[in-house]
Amino acid sequence: MNSRKWILEERWEWGKLVTFIPNKSLPVYSWFYFKEGFSRDFVYLMIDLFKLDNRSVILDPFVGSGTTLLACKEKGINSVGVDVAPLAVFVSQTKTADYKIEELIKIAKQIFEKKFERQDLSQVSRFTRQFFSKPSLEDILFFREQVRRIEDPAAKNFFTLALMNAAMKVSYVYKDGAVLRVVKKPVPPFRKFFKKIVKKMIKDLKNIHFKQCKIEVYLGDARKMDFLGDDAFDAIITSPPYLNKIEYTKVYEIEYELFFGDVKVDPLRSYIGLNPKNIIDPFPDLNLPEAAKAYFYDMRLALEEMFRVLKSGGKASIVVAGGVFPDRVVESDILTAELAERIGFDIDRIITVNKRVATTRRVIKIGEARESIIILSKP
Ligand SMILES: C[S@@+](CC[C@H](N)C(=O)[O-])C[C@H]1O[C@@H](n2cnc3c(N)ncnc32)[C@H](O)[C@@H]1O
Repeated sequence: MNSRKWILEERWEWGKLVTFIPNKSLPVYSWFYFKEGFSRDFVYLMIDLFKLDNRSVILDPFVGSGTTLLACKEKGINSVGVDVAPLAVFVSQTKTADYKIEELIKIAKQIFEKKFERQDLSQVSRFTRQFFSKPSLEDILFFREQVRRIEDPAAKNFFTLALMNAAMKVSYVYKDGAVLRVVKKPVPPFRKFFKKIVKKMIKDLKNIHFKQCKIEVYLGDARKMDFLGDDAFDAIITSPPYLNKIEYTKVYEIEYELFFGDVKVDPLRSYIGLNPKNIIDPFPDLNLPEAAKAYFYDMRLALEEMFRVLKSGGKASIVVAGGVFPDRVVESDILTAELAERIGFDIDRIITVNKRVATTRRVIKIGEARESIIILSKP
């Protein structure tokens, strides 16, 4: 394989756009901090590049915190999101739902008028309990009960997300990569904090302007989207999990236990790159690390599905990053483009937007890990 058959463009000024940072100050986008997310402005850039409008339909098969869908809603473009993680589906649905603001204000008033009732903490696992002070956890469980009683499904999701954010803010959780650590610190009174978050979220809804369009979010696997028809989409704007990156369910273990008690999440079920058994190595000549073989095998399946659901002439924008292994850097942009070409895509552009030096034991340089946007079109 000639790894240099494509020209890599460099656009360092787009580097920040493929991160979540610009979303942190935006109404609604900031309702859930998602380290692995990209920004609204990245989606806008792709919408302009692909000349999409309100007759278009866009897919994000790895929707994460729903950035693509939310940006489409601001532009009035129909969109569909898919994610294998129930938390991602919940966050995306909650951010993109239509709300009656007056109704939310009324519910908030009712919730905060309720007098506190003592809660039985033994319903929470020991693992989760260690991350909260007793008064905080009692308050969280009390308000969770109030939120459970809300009848309107959209309003219930809205308050659940607010509660989840408030709960994590008053917790002792420190997310250290894929590991959760207990770091004790003084925490504010929960009720006050929760109220502040609800107020801010309601204010956000007043400040954001959505246009009329259709949005659907599915809990599903990007490698097998049989719930989506062939030739249905004008464009795909997405970022799959990065090669070698953290496993997404473990870091959210507390959120899942407290707010998704009835959902069982199996971290080994179908996550890209985590099931190295029964795979066909797409690059046998490269002798890739096992995790990379599994990753590209899964990426091939996801790309085949993207090809199937795109219309002829449809465009795809996929953000990927190089995988750092002890002895080398795996060039995800080139290999993903190679897979896409084998499937039948035209490779329009590969745009490198970030790059960092990878070293072994922090001393010997083993290569450069690039973060790139791959632009594809279906002939
Ligand atoms: C890099 S994040 C996407 C972030 C998104 N662009 C945003 O701005 O929030 C990748 C997402 O892919 C999801 N994912 C992992 N494996 C998947 C699969 N097989 N099918 C669908 N989604 C998957 C993860 O749950 C995660 O939410």
